[in-house]
Amino acid sequence: ARVAVLISGTGTNMAALLYASRAPDCPFQLVLVASNNPAAPGLALAAAEGIATFALPHKGMSRADHDAAMDAAIRASGAEYVALAGYMRVLGTDFVQRWDGRMLNIHPSLLPKYPGLDTHVRALGAGDTHGGCSVHIVTAELDSGPLLDQTPVAILPGDTAETLAARVLIAEHQLYPRALAAYVGRERAPDYLIGRVRELAL
Ligand code: GRF
Repeated sequence: ARVAVLISGTGTNMAALLYASRAPDCPFQLVLVASNNPAAPGLALAAAEGIATFALPHKGMSRADHDAAMDAAIRASGAEYVALAGYMRVLGTDFVQRWDGRMLNIHPSLLPKYPGLDTHVRALGAGDTHGGCSVHIVTAELDSGPLLDQTPVAILPGDTAETLAARVLIAEHQLYPRALAAYVGRERAPDYLIGRVRELAL
């Protein structure tokens, strides 16, 4: 399956997806890396690795116009799925509906806990034993779509938001490629995910 990855920053999750796609049996390939931030380091990496890129600053554009321009670039790339990977824009309902059931996101918490920002400091503040990350289907409500998979990450004594984030990021880099591969190849997905997909009637 052809996937467009949307980033806003470093793009380590995009890189994890890119290198996972090099496996001979990987069911997805990256066809585009797009960003609202022309300076996103992930764009330079994607270009150097031979992946098409698209960058369009959102400054001075309405949300609807920026979303529409991003959508046009994604469709022009031939992408069948969209993977949000640290894309820091809230997408409008038109865009979400256009990609209904075909757009995934990775979020650095054990959803449904801690949707939104500052997830690690909230987990630490709550005295949780674990933080973690989640891959979900994107719906109009932020960070609330059907969960595909997640990884709990133990919180250690003395953890700060930064040390926890760094550990969760390692888990993200394993979770996203696995969850995306299972989802785009859901006809051949492992049973546990088939059940999920059936449950979600996707
Ligand atoms: C990750 O922590 C991801 O969970 C969150 O933003 C960060 C993106 O990092 N959505 P990167 O750009 O993939 O390195």
